[in-house]
Amino acid sequence: MSRRILVTNALPYANGPLHLGHMVGYIQADIWVRFQRMCGNDVTYVCADDAHGTPIMLAAEKAGVAPEAFIADVKAAHAADFAAFGVAFDHYHSTHSDENRRLAESIYRNLKANGYIASRFIEQAYDPVKEMFLPDRYIKGECPKCGTADQYGDNCENCGATYGPTDLRNPFSVVSGATPVLKASEHYFFELSKLQAEVEQWLDAADVHSSVKAKLREWLDGGLKDWDISRDAPYFGFEIPDAPGKYFYVWLDAPIGYFASLSALLGNDQAKLGQFIGPESTAEMWHFIGKDIINFHGLFWPAMLKGAGHRQPTGLSVNGYLTVNGAKMSKSRGTFIKARTFLDAGLNPEYLRYYFAAKLSDGVDDLDLNLDDFVARVNSDIVGKYVNIASRCAPFLNKYFAGQLSARLSPATAEALGAYFGARPDAVFKAYARRDYAEALRQTMALADAANQWIQDVEPWSLAKLIEQGGLGPFRTKTGREVAFGSADAVRTALHEATTAFIEIFRLLTVLLTPVLPNLAAKAAQFLGDAAGRAVDAPQLGYTVRAFEPLATRIDPAQIKAMIAASTESLAPSEAPKAKPAKAAAAAAAAAPTAAGDTHASIEDFARIDLRIARIEHAESVDGADKLLRLQLDLGPLGKRQVFAGIKSAYPAERLIGRLTVMVANLAPRKMRFGLSEGMVLAASNDDGGPFLLAPDDGAQPGMKVK
Ligand code: 2FM
Ligand code: ZN
Repeated sequence: MSRRILVTNALPYANGPLHLGHMVGYIQADIWVRFQRMCGNDVTYVCADDAHGTPIMLAAEKAGVAPEAFIADVKAAHAADFAAFGVAFDHYHSTHSDENRRLAESIYRNLKANGYIASRFIEQAYDPVKEMFLPDRYIKGECPKCGTADQYGDNCENCGATYGPTDLRNPFSVVSGATPVLKASEHYFFELSKLQAEVEQWLDAADVHSSVKAKLREWLDGGLKDWDISRDAPYFGFEIPDAPGKYFYVWLDAPIGYFASLSALLGNDQAKLGQFIGPESTAEMWHFIGKDIINFHGLFWPAMLKGAGHRQPTGLSVNGYLTVNGAKMSKSRGTFIKARTFLDAGLNPEYLRYYFAAKLSDGVDDLDLNLDDFVARVNSDIVGKYVNIASRCAPFLNKYFAGQLSARLSPATAEALGAYFGARPDAVFKAYARRDYAEALRQTMALADAANQWIQDVEPWSLAKLIEQGGLGPFRTKTGREVAFGSADAVRTALHEATTAFIEIFRLLTVLLTPVLPNLAAKAAQFLGDAAGRAVDAPQLGYTVRAFEPLATRIDPAQIKAMIAASTESLAPSEAPKAKPAKAAAAAAAAAPTAAGDTHASIEDFARIDLRIARIEHAESVDGADKLLRLQLDLGPLGKRQVFAGIKSAYPAERLIGRLTVMVANLAPRKMRFGLSEGMVLAASNDDGGPFLLAPDDGAQPGMKVK
């Protein structure tokens, strides 16, 4: 019986372009959707942009446009990227939509009516200049342990200490630079704890990977806490019914966006919508998400749904993070690759689908995109193994048999061909069903390997040569077999049977690869004609193929180089990272000189850091910062720079004046609470001592390059 399945992907935030890390989960879900449809199931696949929240509000403000215009642009870019990678949602919506407002209000009202909403006053950091409450990531200050300036309110990038935003010394608002104050306001809470038993029950039955279940159970064992679902104005989102100036927290209405997108797809037909989201729904509901958001989807969302009288998810498919060349994606190494940059390099997006699929099992492991391996794997598997079968055989079938496959096979050929069908494709389908694409492709490529060996053993090109020359053999194949025929007809029959078998295997492989390579499979289907969609439980014979057009080209490593070059963000000020700044960009002299912020720096990374000799022209303490000195540095012909350095404990300001030191001269200028910092000076330190300012030997001149 055919299943009705709703599939969703995590909604990307509407504040920036998609990168290859995003694509893992979307490609994973899209493959599953295509596979389920191939099995005859009725699948509805929706997604949307996640458009609310403080970061998006501030990003729009920074861009000088209304948030509505800002999110519309980002949504259009996201939709274009998804389409290019073959991620084919039935509908792509936005959480900033009428549907979502209606659904969020309705779910909230139900939760309230059912006694799950409470309110109370809480105190939070408030920016008195910008007149807004500050989420933790918008507060910075000095590390309470080591005094390093410009640290976020969770941990210190210099000494590794962990703490809360209220522990920061000299805290300041990242938005305005003002010192935050504590301010009380009323907040609304979803009393999750009242639904603990229901969430536990849901989890027991849900289709969720055991490791994710274990993590969720750990949280459940710790007891669910009430969840703060309101934010004060100014906030880009939906105002809470009967609570002027209070808005739904972005994570409240984000998953409801799944339903909003579905509703829009269904023309807001309530009866149809109810069949998916009503408490009695018999449809399956699967959420594909990254491992960073399992708490929202495995605790809050099932609780919300239960508390508001909706159905709960059938399963969660959770993917890990993407690494590139074995490390976290890095802008300085050029491995923070946007989806658009991949396309612009002329790389076939289906090749990325193939590579990801080849490495995706049903687990939650991180996935590494090794670029050399990517090139080798795609060129070998797709071009060298799969397409190769057709390109070696199709010309002979067309030339000598008008493209028509033989209608009969000798018992030996029939048996050899039959072995490819049946059990093997079945194993591939089972692997797809459980989202073990790595296994599905391993099995598929094992068939392709066997077929290529068979072709090597038969040598259709040698048979064609016999036909051309009117010969009967004998000849010896490269595999060492001696081949001879009794008549010209026998030669033709051998070639016909062989090419028939190989094209049939190609057709089988095309079906097996369709969920992963939909466009390539569609091109192959043009060649295969009507036969393309036929069953794969047994060989199909006698049909006619069309002319064979080249199906796929190899990846040229130059394309990879171009992609890396286009992704490499220099440390020069004009191209400084916009979002979270490079780790050591703070003008903290105590920081180790790893300016790129990554554990392994290549020689190219190092070459990008411009180290210069600087003369400390002036030094003074900074009001309100007990570790910092403001340094005026002279770089000779390169001009002057102002730098803040956390070295006051070791150096009284006046002792530094006139000294030479080493500075990083091409860091992006950073606006700090006390003024602009235009680089950093280098100093040595560890837990036992320091900082010790680095200084050159006698004779060095301001502005000299350090290399
Ligand atoms: O983590 C994120 O990128 C969120 N925008 C995902 C939201 S998924 C769903 F709940 F909307
Ligand atoms: Zn610290």
